Amino acid sequence: MVFQSTNLQKNGMLNAAITGVQGWLPEYVLTNQELETMVDTTDEWIRSRTGILERRLLKGEGKGTSDMAVEAVGRLLEKTGTKKEEVELVIFATVTPDMVMPDTANTLCDKLGLKNAFGFDLKAACSGFIYAITVGTQFIKTGAHKKVIVVGGDKMSSIIDYEDRATCIIFGDGCGAVLLEPTEEPVGVVDSILRGDGSGRQYLYIPAGGSKLQSSAKTVADKGHFVFQDGRPVFKAAVKGMASVVRDIMARNNLTIDDVDWIIPHQANKRIISSVAHALKFPEEKVTLNIHKYGNTTAATIPLCMWEWESQFKKGDNIILTAFGGGFTWGAVLVKWGY
Ligand code: UT7
Repeated sequence: MVFQSTNLQKNGMLNAAITGVQGWLPEYVLTNQELETMVDTTDEWIRSRTGILERRLLKGEGKGTSDMAVEAVGRLLEKTGTKKEEVELVIFATVTPDMVMPDTANTLCDKLGLKNAFGFDLKAACSGFIYAITVGTQFIKTGAHKKVIVVGGDKMSSIIDYEDRATCIIFGDGCGAVLLEPTEEPVGVVDSILRGDGSGRQYLYIPAGGSKLQSSAKTVADKGHFVFQDGRPVFKAAVKGMASVVRDIMARNNLTIDDVDWIIPHQANKRIISSVAHALKFPEEKVTLNIHKYGNTTAATIPLCMWEWESQFKKGDNIILTAFGGGFTWGAVLVKWGY
């Protein structure tokens, strides 16, 4: 399955520009040292196999993904001088919605008072943000909407078994969001290639809680509501998938390595990121990396990197976002930075 779209319009047509980005991370820091007291692991193993030193966790009874998004999107609106009533659409990429129903986007709109907005959740695991920004771009390009917020947020700690050393060392909680607005300037989301292969679902999934295996005392006892990952096949597919889709999007837009200013990869494992950069012969200093601080925050990794590197981006920079995750889902989005 492939979605391909060349988005950048010329001749006075509308483009979808990113006009602001904001992140938010919970305060609690779960260090490798603390994990050493919880499961049979070592700081050395985690550092050398993943590059992660610590991750953030959202603590507090009744706190969900929407609570992180209230912080990120609230600050985004302030920063961009956007009035609440101007927001028309919120697309929320997450695999950890507050509830199965309603969508977290609706809860967020209510909590923030975005009275004129409609919203929906989008679930594409670690590729959620690149899928969501591609969808949001279409609403802008048609002229249908002028202010679209795309959120990537996950409270991974709510679906992780802290007795499973294969997964609990990797994931963290966080949220990031961007504002998309129309512009006639040649900047914004230029191009997207999104891919999917459902046969990869056996390697990364949550067995229970959906319509196939509904929640019961047995599913809880069997730990069926936690993430299962067979890491090695995911690792291999991630390197191959991201390197090939980045190559494809560069070729389609006649870009060489020298024309690309930054690559913002999903932060799943430092070794995956280095392998992708190596395969592309792309200098690692132009690849954003913050996995050491936050681990894998699923849909949030890319907007969190964008937020952290925002001050280094220049108007007109060619930036490639790329992700790979459960599904399998993967892809690349080419952005020409707009400010
Ligand atoms: O973001 C969504 C997509 N997800 C990814 O991209 C993740 C892709 N996969 C990975 O990043 C890596 O596969 C992991 C970090 C999950 C695991 O690293 P690995 O180098 O592939 O290790 P492995 O699973 O092949 O395990 C190697 C050994 C095993 O022991 P034996 O069988 O060789 O004796 C594991 O039991 O390491 C052991 N192990 C650990 N040891 C200490 C696994 N987890 C741990 C741990 N601490 N936390």
